[in-house]
Amino acid sequence: MSATPAPRQLFVTTALPYANGNFHIGHIMEYIQADIWVRFQRMQGHQVHFVGADDAHGAPIMIAAEKAGKTPQQFVGEISAGRKPYLDGFHVAFDNWSSTDSPENHELAQQIYRDLKAAGLITTRTIEQFFDPEKSMFLPDRFIKGECPKCGAKDQYGDSCEVCGAVYAPTELKNPYSALSGATPVRKTSEHFFFQLSDPRCVAFLQQWTQDGKLQPEVANKIREWFTKDEDGQGQGLSDWDISRDAPYFGIEIPDAPGKFFYVWLDAPVGYLASLKNYFGRIGKDYEAFMADPQVEQYHFIGKDITYFHTLFWPAMLHFSGRKTPTNVFVHGFITVSGEKMSKSRGTGIDPLKYLALGMNPEWLRYYIAAKLNSRVEDVDFNPEDFVARVNSDLVGKYINIASRAAGFIAKRFGGQLGEISADGDALLEHLRQAFPAIAELYAEREYGKALRETMLLADRVNEYVDQNKPWELAKQAGMDTRLHDVCSTCIEAFRLLSILLKPVLPALAAQVEAFLKVGPLAFADGEQALGKGHAIGAYQHLMQRVDAKLLDALFEPPAAAEPEQAPPGGEELAETISIDDFAKVDLRIAQIVNCEPVEGSTKLLRLTLDMGEGRTRNVFSGIASAYQPADLVGKLTVMVANLAPRKMKFGVSEGMVLAASHGDEKANPGLYVLEPWPGAQPGMRVR
Ligand code: MSP
Ligand code: ZN
Repeated sequence: MSATPAPRQLFVTTALPYANGNFHIGHIMEYIQADIWVRFQRMQGHQVHFVGADDAHGAPIMIAAEKAGKTPQQFVGEISAGRKPYLDGFHVAFDNWSSTDSPENHELAQQIYRDLKAAGLITTRTIEQFFDPEKSMFLPDRFIKGECPKCGAKDQYGDSCEVCGAVYAPTELKNPYSALSGATPVRKTSEHFFFQLSDPRCVAFLQQWTQDGKLQPEVANKIREWFTKDEDGQGQGLSDWDISRDAPYFGIEIPDAPGKFFYVWLDAPVGYLASLKNYFGRIGKDYEAFMADPQVEQYHFIGKDITYFHTLFWPAMLHFSGRKTPTNVFVHGFITVSGEKMSKSRGTGIDPLKYLALGMNPEWLRYYIAAKLNSRVEDVDFNPEDFVARVNSDLVGKYINIASRAAGFIAKRFGGQLGEISADGDALLEHLRQAFPAIAELYAEREYGKALRETMLLADRVNEYVDQNKPWELAKQAGMDTRLHDVCSTCIEAFRLLSILLKPVLPALAAQVEAFLKVGPLAFADGEQALGKGHAIGAYQHLMQRVDAKLLDALFEPPAAAEPEQAPPGGEELAETISIDDFAKVDLRIAQIVNCEPVEGSTKLLRLTLDMGEGRTRNVFSGIASAYQPADLVGKLTVMVANLAPRKMKFGVSEGMVLAASHGDEKANPGLYVLEPWPGAQPGMRVR
């Protein structure tokens, strides 16, 4: 084995989403891609700081806020407050989430500007633009409309015609009007600030920085086009970048230039640094020292549409302001749904929160997206049938199955302890261990699809081993105990190795596996040391359900049009009002399900043995057999009605009732959900 190299220091970001809307599936895909990489690097023993922020500034956000009758700060604050359920829901573990409107960003953006000015790369120029006399503001191209100068189509935007495809300057529109007020815009001049990207120093630096081999080949190629003149010899390569906007503007003021603000794209990437600085402020770490350390590596995950900003403007801003430039920028393609592009504003048929609300496992999506990602700038398609097939056949069928086939025997026959592994089992395990470096390399290269394919090939090998050895038959044969123990111990160790390989993609599942195997947080290096004879594992609880294809129908079902009559919540009218005293008559207690069994002769009932701290247990029959396997429930806490009169049933006396939720119309909306208290509740505690 090679010596452990010193841990690397990594600073990782994703693009900062505009704070004018909730996350759509495209954002989630980017976060999943970056989160897998971050988790992988941490599992390699490296130190990673992973930060994000809202991109708060710009005219569209300012205008949207005004329409909503809010200040821009209020408006972006509300969007920002809605981020957490998405990030937590999909296990995206940013260390920090900040905003480009933070004090850190104001300060850093102004400082970077001052440094660029001192480097002689800022210039001013007077330009003529459309001005809305009613709103007293210059109009961004998107907010000017008029007739196409070429085909005469009405109501076209200021930059291009949707009817004939012509591209033009807003000043060429016929009968232009402001999309904000309807007023006829007037031409007005104003002084703008420019970052001189055309300066030979910038061009030379960027030629080198973008073409030295670090960027993805297709990205470097695209950039080469931007350096050269366009087809008709009109372009002059990189042109200077207009970085100022006139008040009113929601942004950061340009130092010593009253009424002038940075264009949103100037301060947006600075937000990466500002979020890190804000984070370090919180944890008491020295930001300046960290960024001055040449060993620190800086990576940005972005989508293909914002490559220009991240591979030209941003490195130049950093370099010429005397700062560290990104180690790399990782560009991904777009997610499409069943082959269809989604609109940037409206998203797609997949609403991430609806996905979660339907009870769909976030790790199904993480797995599916990872299985389709590679290191190239290719679009990724979400296809519902493919999703169901991959999750069910690979994840559940190949991987989860290994544990469920072996764990029962270890528990029932060998007191939960692992046994000796013989030569054939060890050969299998050695095959798995040998695959670790190559799979780690694939993760490092963001070739997640290949990494998962390789991992599933290993799972196939393990399943072949199971089929050859048939533990369920060994279990029935006399004198085969040692072999059964050997085979099942091999399976458990193989499952542990596969779990390490899958952990960057499936972090919550890995945590359950760690609890089941009674091991600490798994890292890649843990592949080398097997659990060994005598190691006691915990009771196996089913780790992951199969996807029910009906869930995908529900996911894509358009939200019901506002009905004239609001249906009752949960399909049932509220019961009549009661007093607090009425409620107090029902004694609800936390109870632990210490045992659970099927009831012979009943397909509906399960027999629960409940402990609510009375020094005895209670027997309760519950009609939940359609929703739960007995093993799902054993050990869990729930809520029971403790003072219900005992009831004699065909199968015995029921001494209480457990609480479960269901829809009023169970035929149309099947599903039964037993209540479980938050962690910390103890048997016997009253629920009030
Ligand atoms: N605010 C800018 C980024 C500033 S970074 C300093 C922005 N925001 S965005 O909300 O429009 O996009 C955020 C990220 O989501 C970008 O990387 C973008 O490419 C990505 N995606 C937007 N739609 C996407 C898909 N359909 N698929 C995958 N990623 C997509 O741009
Ligand atoms: Zn036209």
